[in-house]
Amino acid sequence: MAEFILPIKSRVKKGKTFKAEGAARVKRFLIYRWDPDNDDNPRVDTYEVDLDTCGPMVLDAIIKIKDEIDSTLSFRRSCREGICGSCAMNIDGLNTLACTKAIDDIQGDVRIYPLPHMKVVKDLIPDMTHFYAQYASIKPWIRTQTPAPDRERLQSVEDRAKLDGLYECILCACCSTSCPSYWWNSDRYLGPAVLLQAYRWIVDSRDEATGERLDDLEDPFKLYRCHTIMNCAHTCPKGLNPAKAIAEIKKKMVARR
Ligand code: SF4
Ligand code: SF4
Ligand code: FES
Repeated sequence: MAEFILPIKSRVKKGKTFKAEGAARVKRFLIYRWDPDNDDNPRVDTYEVDLDTCGPMVLDAIIKIKDEIDSTLSFRRSCREGICGSCAMNIDGLNTLACTKAIDDIQGDVRIYPLPHMKVVKDLIPDMTHFYAQYASIKPWIRTQTPAPDRERLQSVEDRAKLDGLYECILCACCSTSCPSYWWNSDRYLGPAVLLQAYRWIVDSRDEATGERLDDLEDPFKLYRCHTIMNCAHTCPKGLNPAKAIAEIKKKMVARR
């Protein structure tokens, strides 16, 4: 069996421990740390948090750690209600949103890492540059040929319903960074999040560029690296099914041959 060994500077070391002296209800948070401004290896620091003075979500604990224990901890967050997608990280082995993940749902220590297989900017902050460039590549806006009407472009109730399960995507990247095909081929495979978004525009009755959109995806790597492993649907914190959207695009490809 092949054995993989990380380069010496990539090996994750045990870090510092911050005790919660005098706390009655303690939970331990083991958090990945890496700072590009020094030459140290990544490490995992352990923070003891007093649950009696902490909110219920993992993001509450992370904010408390930054505010009260260690101000050097870096992470993204904004809305704290599952809408902005910025607090996506790997918690207890699953990619999810820190603001909607309840601490009580995790048995034992809480292990927190950045989204997998992404370059790390610092600590829990992944570099989203490539992901956003892929999103821009599918032209995620309505494209029309016909002149603009005097009012908004209308859609029937039935056509609007075709966007359900798609428009809710918050582009958190939990799905793409859980997809083994994306791990190995993200330079050319668009991944589940961007393909779900592509399908969202393909099925929009108001869009007039369906043929061009399908032409752009007719590529062995952009679309066809999906092997229906379903990690994407399993991990999506919004309960969406990117694999189904990808299958629908493939069906449209077959139907037009
Ligand atoms: S499909 Fe789900 S997991 Fe993927 S980017 Fe959208 S909201 Fe996040
Ligand atoms: S179903 Fe496709 S997109 Fe989803 S995790 Fe599997 S290979 Fe990736
Ligand atoms: S902070 Fe916006 S989704 Fe978590």
